Amino acid sequence: MLLVLNGPNLNRLGLREPGVYGVQTLEDLERQCEAWGAELGESVTCRQSNYEGQLLDWIHEAQEQGFRGIVLNPGALTHYSYALRDAISGQSVPVVEVHLSNVDARESFRHQSVTAAVCRGKISGLGFTGYRLALEYLTELQAE
Ligand code: DQA
Repeated sequence: MLLVLNGPNLNRLGLREPGVYGVQTLEDLERQCEAWGAELGESVTCRQSNYEGQLLDWIHEAQEQGFRGIVLNPGALTHYSYALRDAISGQSVPVVEVHLSNVDARESFRHQSVTAAVCRGKISGLGFTGYRLALEYLTELQAE
């Protein structure tokens, strides 16, 4: 059982800066993640929130709810949310940070991630494919 969390503004996919984030919607992304989960034999639950506290609550509850891995795109919270960082490091479910765009090729404030260091790893710039790779990794990790 894997959890996919998308943070602030990711509900605007398809409308928001399509040159950067593409024309597909959050619903497209979530359906893809569920389909990839089915191929991997994993049930995938997708959630999105524009609220930092909601993301924290979902991370706090993940283990108790039976999730064995989290794919997290924190949106702009990546760059400054120590609360999100503490939520990730304060629990034991492995988290993979994913960004649709190549954050290192963009504005300098996006080069810093305060969350990546407490995640298993970070995938950036591969669009939806990054979520698939993260789901594959987390599935393999459970088999170890
Ligand atoms: C993002 C990159 C962030 O810098 C930005 O604030 C987002 C989306 C991405 O998926 O590329 O909201 O996380």
